[in-house]
Amino acid sequence: MVKGLEIYREKKIFITGHTGFKGAWLVKLLSLSGAKIMGYSLAPNTEPNLFSIFEIEKLCKSIIGDIRDKENLTKHILDFKPDFIFHLAAQPIVLASYESPAYTFDVNVIGTANLLEAVKVLNKPNLNTIIITTDKVYENIEKDYAYKETDRLGGYDPYSASKAATEIVVSSFRSSFFNPNSFEKHKNKLVSVRAGNVIGGGDWAKDRLIPDIVRAINNQEELSIRNPNAIRPWQHVFEPLWGYLYVGKLMSEDKLIEGSINFGPYTNDTLKVIDMVNVAIKTWQKGSYNCPELKSTPHEANLLKLSIEKAISLGWTPQWNATKALEKSIEWYKTFYETPNKIEQITIKQIEEYFREG
Ligand SMILES: NC(=O)c1ccc[n+]([C@@H]2O[C@H](COP(=O)([O-])OP(=O)(O)OC[C@H]3O[C@@H](n4cnc5c(N)ncnc54)[C@H](O)[C@@H]3O)[C@@H](O)[C@H]2O)c1
Repeated sequence: MVKGLEIYREKKIFITGHTGFKGAWLVKLLSLSGAKIMGYSLAPNTEPNLFSIFEIEKLCKSIIGDIRDKENLTKHILDFKPDFIFHLAAQPIVLASYESPAYTFDVNVIGTANLLEAVKVLNKPNLNTIIITTDKVYENIEKDYAYKETDRLGGYDPYSASKAATEIVVSSFRSSFFNPNSFEKHKNKLVSVRAGNVIGGGDWAKDRLIPDIVRAINNQEELSIRNPNAIRPWQHVFEPLWGYLYVGKLMSEDKLIEGSINFGPYTNDTLKVIDMVNVAIKTWQKGSYNCPELKSTPHEANLLKLSIEKAISLGWTPQWNATKALEKSIEWYKTFYETPNKIEQITIKQIEEYFREG
């Protein structure tokens, strides 16, 4: 049993995106807490992947399906009758969204509408639905400013815009079908949660910094870094996952019934991309990099900070700073590559360490 997650014991949890990085960690945490889980996603698309490493198929009922297939998705939600839904399935990569913008909108926006329509059809009292979006939903004013939940939504690239549009879908479903003013009628709660870039063991996605570093170090290749001076609010994957689970707990205790909540590090806990690379190389004790002058890279927001006052006022606080988050990530990857038989041990050790401290 993971400390703080006792309320999920014997509860039915529907997770979309369970074959991905954050989703696989979420299944792992909830399975250790005695939850009954159904996952719904496409098959894993990286090799290696956490879905295989954690043997996720043994920890939940795993459905391989497309979020755009409304009929199939609805059927599984109606059959399972969940107590909680965590919706993580998405096309989550900014660069991929430039290559396939319409697909990104389809999966992220229409996929969320499909899920929420299934929740409406299910019409089950005491269902808590948590939609995962991102810090990139805010209109980026490129200033040293920490975005609050009430700030204007926007999005330059198709990924960010699709997640901002997802927020509008959530807000519309909340107003139209799960309105807190008529809660006694439907007894459903719907919130969205917004977190920034996460790191942690087991992410092998393309075009993300830590997976790129790990691949380069492991293949003994020199790493090319785009945007070395970009500042990102790095956090360990446990931080937002604990945030999402904490929100679910508050919802089930009737302490939270609506809204959007940011999860991120303290605003002064930021590191430049270049500093992250240096910490990673120092921790792994090998690796090298160069910073090419890339004249025509697609636009990416330079500075993103989140105000986490609302989450703190609800009782959540960040626990591992950026450097510790990175050290823990590198510890996990080193174990995976150098002593793979110890990966389950290091996974449990890191979970216990984080949740014991909380
Ligand atoms: N990783 C980050 O740094 C980060 C930061 C902010 C927000 N997020 C959000 O967190 C969520 C999970 O991200 P992740 O990092 O685990 O990404 P990931 O790429 O590892 O996982 C994405 C998941 O979505 C599923 N998926 C994609 N398209 C689908 C489709 N058409 N139908 C069904 N399932 C589909 C994949 O199969 C996978 O399970 C996403 O919503 C993402 O936008 C991630």
